[in-house]
Amino acid sequence: MTYLGGTDNIESMILRFPLFPLATEVDSQGHLNIGGCDTVALAAEFGTPLYLFDELSLRHKYTEFKTEFGQRYADTTVIYAGKAFINKSLALILKEEGLGLDVVSAGELSIAQSVDFPMDKVYFHGNNKSAEEINLALKWHIGHIVVDNLHELKMLGEIAREPGDTPDILLRLSPGIDPHTHQYIATGTVDSKFGFPLSSGEEAVAAARSASNLNLVGLHFHIGSLIFEVEPYEQAIELTLNFAAEMKQKYDFELKELNIGGGFAIQYTSDSPAPPIAAYAEAIVSKITSQCQELKLTPPRLVIEPGRAIVGQAGVALYKVGAIKDIPGVRRYVPVDGGMADNIRPALYGSKYEAVIANKAVEKDKEKVTIAGRFCESGDILIKDINLPPISDGDIIAIPDCGAYCLPMASNYNASLKPAIVMVKEGTARLIRRRETLDDLTRCDLI
Ligand SMILES: Cc1ncc(COP(=O)(O)O)c(C=O)c1O
Repeated sequence: MTYLGGTDNIESMILRFPLFPLATEVDSQGHLNIGGCDTVALAAEFGTPLYLFDELSLRHKYTEFKTEFGQRYADTTVIYAGKAFINKSLALILKEEGLGLDVVSAGELSIAQSVDFPMDKVYFHGNNKSAEEINLALKWHIGHIVVDNLHELKMLGEIAREPGDTPDILLRLSPGIDPHTHQYIATGTVDSKFGFPLSSGEEAVAAARSASNLNLVGLHFHIGSLIFEVEPYEQAIELTLNFAAEMKQKYDFELKELNIGGGFAIQYTSDSPAPPIAAYAEAIVSKITSQCQELKLTPPRLVIEPGRAIVGQAGVALYKVGAIKDIPGVRRYVPVDGGMADNIRPALYGSKYEAVIANKAVEKDKEKVTIAGRFCESGDILIKDINLPPISDGDIIAIPDCGAYCLPMASNYNASLKPAIVMVKEGTARLIRRRETLDDLTRCDLI
């Protein structure tokens, strides 16, 4: 296969297919090509549903975060939020790029460990970590533990008793900010299961400062995901730095790290553009700098934890069309061979997507259809009312922006098989996870 994107620059790639990965174009057969690979040929070779990730887009996004934040605030660390999507191959790319990693479970931690990911670059999050997980984190000497609540703080203090086990910790605050996103992914409001409300933060700082075997280095917040505005970040920074200044006075607490979480939006549909990373960087860095000056705080290390914004646009889901159903005067249903079991987002959050027919990528839109999943729920609709060229069974539908929070939330509903995943780059497609088999479905069953 020829790599069609070879001579392009990044800007011209973005202009052509703004919702798709960078190296996306149409070849002479009218097929959608991504990363130099014909997506129709990929669907034939690896089967559908198929998820593909474009390596160029992944690496480019990380570089953009590093550059936009780093040039404004030299002491910035970018860590990738593994919950958006993690597997061995991705962890290896992160390792190669020198990124840090945010994990929330022993499972994510063990994926990182399986590729010898540097444990000192790992941050361990979670609102209900178990003693086993904390033991594992200490055993593997992970870089930072982000403590969510007093119960955890106490447990961590009791477990971390071995010499040399004094973990660096951050306290997760819930600053009481509405990030104007879907309620299921708003996490920094007062009524939240995550973190310490500011009103009880002092008790946590006091407890952490008096625990000789815990090293309190900083504060963390993550106010939500898919945040299209910069103001919620500015508000959260102001409240958190005010809190840090107060804790400095009362408990001699030095804020060495300020971790502002992730949440940076991506564009899922033509009518919902996301701010450029530069806009987030500008607002966040300006606020930290001015607020630290005002409060006479030494500017801390800035840690950011993008997940969706690094991996979201790099991922595309490919499905095959099956039994089309016309309900005259009502709707044309176009069922595909995947759906809510590999992408729960439309059913869970009402998320919107767009699509392209990969084998008819240059044909004009002619009809309004609804792309339905194959699972036994009426709510299993991937895209309601989308204009597409005339569709027939066997066509391949490509849905962009499926890189984040699709596969990690995938299930085996209806005893379906989780899809295969390929990584594309410069005309080569590498299988990075095989499709599940029928045997996989019963592998853990006992009689
Ligand atoms: C603590 C924390 N950091 C980072 C993220 C990543 O968020 P996003 O993928 O929106 O960047 C999340 C997502 O839930 C999170 O809980």
